[in-house]
Amino acid sequence: MSVQLVCEKLTKIYGNRKIKALDSVSFSIPSSGIFVLIGRNGSGKTTLVRILATELEPTSGSATINGIDVVKEPQKLREKIAIVPQEARPIPWMTPRQTVLSYLLWRGFSVSEAKRRATESLEKLKLGDYSDTLNRMLSGGLKRKVLVATVLSSEADIIFLDEPTTGLDPISRREFWDVLSEIGKKRFTFLTTHYLEEAEQLADRIGILDCGRLINIGTLDELRHKIRYNYSMKLLSRPPDLEVKDGEVLTGKDGQTRILTVEEEAFRISRELSKEGVKFTINPVSLDDIFFYLVRQESQERGDGSAIGAATE
Ligand SMILES: Nc1ncnc2c1ncn2[C@@H]1O[C@H](COP(=O)(O)OP(=O)(O)O)[C@@H](O)[C@H]1O
Ligand SMILES: [Mg+2]
Repeated sequence: MSVQLVCEKLTKIYGNRKIKALDSVSFSIPSSGIFVLIGRNGSGKTTLVRILATELEPTSGSATINGIDVVKEPQKLREKIAIVPQEARPIPWMTPRQTVLSYLLWRGFSVSEAKRRATESLEKLKLGDYSDTLNRMLSGGLKRKVLVATVLSSEADIIFLDEPTTGLDPISRREFWDVLSEIGKKRFTFLTTHYLEEAEQLADRIGILDCGRLINIGTLDELRHKIRYNYSMKLLSRPPDLEVKDGEVLTGKDGQTRILTVEEEAFRISRELSKEGVKFTINPVSLDDIFFYLVRQESQERGDGSAIGAATE
């Protein structure tokens, strides 16, 4: 059996709109570990998740997960997948235990098996103390955990989570990362986010989507090798006579200048900036820089020239 997720020229055009939410997306990755799809709002992440989770049919193209065709064999695939949609919330007047139980019963488990699985899953997510509290009384982070507990309780070995950490405070988000990395050890976890730090922390593989196109896909190391610079400098203002000999100067919508460059040049520029009294930071190139660079390169090639202010705008 092929243990892969394969997409071939997946395209989605909604209704009579001309915009392609997905534009001929093709890739093939092992269906194991954690795959993180990153991209700005409106780039097509949710559309791709919904197609792969059999909630939506593509306009054209095809996809298979572990050899099962997403469009032709949705029933067969549904037994193996579980999804937490973007912005989903547990039903307010139910408790976490009732939420997980009803999901399991709906998936066809017997009452006793559902009870056992629900308790186990709630414990795993440290929701034991809240099992019988109404969902509406729980914090945003705990509400998300309830939904993750539901998918985790099932037998599904492919889990889709569409922006599970959006809107969470930084502490809850980090707690969530532990949960997600645990899940990723046993099941293929397909995650979307616009927090690039999250992708950097969790992903075995990362896909970059922009304007419905898959710009790049690979491990963090593979993506790093897409650009030849290894230092990123950020400065609030740019002295008029600053010359960058070996590097790329990128200016965001927020007016911040980012210079991607090589080690020696980074040190030379640092000295110049210090002389001029310009404040700056210097760091190894992060996924945020890579994203910024690749998306800009792609939009230049496409000739739409849309400058991006921040990776997540
Ligand atoms: N149900 C829909 N009907 C029409 N257009 C849609 C629908 N869902 C998404 N879109 C459009 O498709 C594009 C991609 O959206 P989406 O997949 O939600 O992106 P993301 O999840 O990356 O924010 C956007 O231009 C969005 O406005
Ligand atoms: Mg979305």
